[in-house]
This record gives sequence, structure tokens and C-alpha cells, in this order.
Amino acid sequence: MSQIDIFDTTLRDGEQSAGINLNTAEKIEIARQLERLGVTIIESGFPASSPGDFDAVQRIAGTVKNSIVTGLARSIQSDIDRTWEALKGAEQPHIHIFLATSPIHMETKLFKTPEQVVELAVESVKYARKFFPLVQWSAEDASRSDPEFLAHIIRKVIEAGATTINLPDTVGYATPHEYGAMFKYMTDNVAGIEKVKLSAHCHNDLGMATANTLAAIENGATQIEGTINGIGERAGNVALEEIAVALHIRKQIFNIETGIKLNEIKRTSQLVSQLTGSLIQPNKAVVGKNAFAHESGIHQDGMLKNPLTYEIITPELIGDAATELVLGKHSGRHAFKDRAVKMGFDLTEEKLNKAFVEFKKLADSKKEIVEADLYVLLTDQQIHD
Ligand code: KIV
Ligand code: ZN
Repeated sequence: MSQIDIFDTTLRDGEQSAGINLNTAEKIEIARQLERLGVTIIESGFPASSPGDFDAVQRIAGTVKNSIVTGLARSIQSDIDRTWEALKGAEQPHIHIFLATSPIHMETKLFKTPEQVVELAVESVKYARKFFPLVQWSAEDASRSDPEFLAHIIRKVIEAGATTINLPDTVGYATPHEYGAMFKYMTDNVAGIEKVKLSAHCHNDLGMATANTLAAIENGATQIEGTINGIGERAGNVALEEIAVALHIRKQIFNIETGIKLNEIKRTSQLVSQLTGSLIQPNKAVVGKNAFAHESGIHQDGMLKNPLTYEIITPELIGDAATELVLGKHSGRHAFKDRAVKMGFDLTEEKLNKAFVEFKKLADSKKEIVEADLYVLLTDQQIHD
């Protein structure tokens, strides 16, 4: 089984979500939990962007020992200097430099020719290597860049000393086939690329971030970047918990180890949600409130007979409480009886049938039946002849 690096950017790209603003204490708490979760790299902020970010990155670098800590920098010397100030005390100083390579970004945002962009990328990587043993270089908007130009600039930055090359789908535009093909093209056309880490960084604008990340893995990516709960710019980044669990559940296909402690996922997700104030949609894969909730009678009956009928992930795998059989209007008699017994009621079949009829009437008028409703219903039957 081969190993893939997990680069967590909850504290940088994740914090770039509209409405999220974490203070240093909150960032440190999340970083500690990410370390417990077992991520390889924690992108803890953008030191040149504000004194608060600088402070958080510096303090996280002094606290976290089992994950590499990095900070983001533009391709300018003053950003690299500031990042070095923040990270020089880290166990393994790592910097993440980015520069856009797509025609639209180079022409209308950077106002630079492709040649100037190559020169700037090479200079910044060379400069960063004077301080940092680990330099990640990102081609912003890689998925909308010309593949030949991308291969050319990647060759140059590897020669300049980059140790990781990241190919972001910055605006979540690529399809899984296209994104995977870009990784294959670079692997086939850039000599020496096997000596560096090759990283995927997907945004979720079209809801394809998880599929795109898995396509990159199938085509040579050795590092993947994302955030907890998928928070991030616009529609967010890929949700790391989805990738970690998908690689685990479908390990026969991928044959890849992430080093993630899956039973820390739920705790990490809850912490990030609480501290960022970013709510998790109920039907969110892996960590949503309903991810292990079964409502319909047919599903509940199947679950009670053999949980594998409708559950491919167990809640215990991610450190969650047990599966929930939610009682609602679609529920069947089997689940109803099971709950009554669990609540301590020992009713005759006749009384149970009557209670079930009452339950169905109530369920038609309420979205969800809570335990207190059931208690009243079942007690009514218990005390009446
Ligand atoms: O999405 C992106 O392109 C980024 C870069 C800074 C790596 O977040
Ligand atoms: Zn991003």
C-alpha cells in the first residue's frame, strides 16, 4: 500500500470563507486537533496578510510537533521574509508560494507575459530555498492553464528547488476526467517530477471536488489538500474527511494509506464547526447529522436484519455515536417495536399494534417523532386495557 500526504488548509483557505474569522487561541485549538487527526501538513495561515495571521502561524509552529506547519506567501521577497520570520522555529520549516499560470490570470490580474511569470516563479523559489528546506510551489488556476506552458514552468521551478508542485483547480471548473488528465500529462511530460511531491487542490464550485481529488490520486498525485467540513472560498474546498473515508472504504481500488486517524474525524468536524460558526448541512457526506440516520420502514427493517444492507460506513469508524433509526411517517413496525423495547416497554402484540396505529397518525402530522412522543404513546397503551 502506498502513502499519500494530507495537507490541511482549514486555517488558511478554510478561513477565507465568507463570515469566518478565527482568533489565535481558536486556531491553536484547531491545529492541535488536526495534529491528533494525523494530517501531514497544516497550512496555518498567510503570515504577510495581517499581524494576527503572523502571530497564529508563529505560535502554531511552536506548538505542533507531529505535523509539518506551513504558511502561504505570494511570489514576492517581502512575503517570503515574513513567512520565514513566522516559521523559522518550526521543526521542519515549509513555505507555500503561489503564482497564477492561466491566460486569464496572467493577462488580466498580474499584467505579465508568460515569460515574466516563469522568471518570477523561478526567482521566488530560489529565494525561498535560501531559508526553507521544503518549498511548495502552486500554479494558481492550473486547471485553466495551457498544459504545455504548465509543464514548462513546472520543470523550471523544480530546477530552482521546489520540493512540492501543487496543481489547483482554483475555481472548481475541471471535471474529474480533465483534472486526472492534467496530472497524467505532467507525470508523463515533466522529467524529474517523480522526485517531488505532486499535489491536488480542489474547489467545489460545481460539486466535483471529491471526485476530482480522487481522479488526481488515480493519476499520480502524492499529496492532497483540503479542509475539514469542506469550508473555504465560495463553495469551499474538498472535504478531507470525505477523501480519507473514501480511500479507506474503497481501499481495494485505491490501495492508499493516509495516516488519518479516522476515529478523530467526528470530533475534528464538530470543533471546526463550533469555532468557525459554520454549520454542517444535515445531509453532508460522512459528518452530517443525517449521515447515519435511516427513516424509511424498508431501510430500517433491512438495518435491523443486517446493517450492511444500507450502511457502507459505520458511525464508530469516524468516532460518532451509534446509528440512528429515526422514527417518522415512513418507518415500519419492526423499528417501532425495537425502539419500544429499548425504551423498556414490554407490550403485548395487540397493544403494540394499537400504539403503532397511533404512532402513524401522529407521524403524519409531525416531521419527526421524538422520544417524549413515543413515551406518551406507549405509556397510554400500557395503562389502558
Ligand atoms: O485555490 C488556490 O489556487 C489556492 C492557492 C493559493 C493554492 O488556494
Ligand atoms: Zn484554494
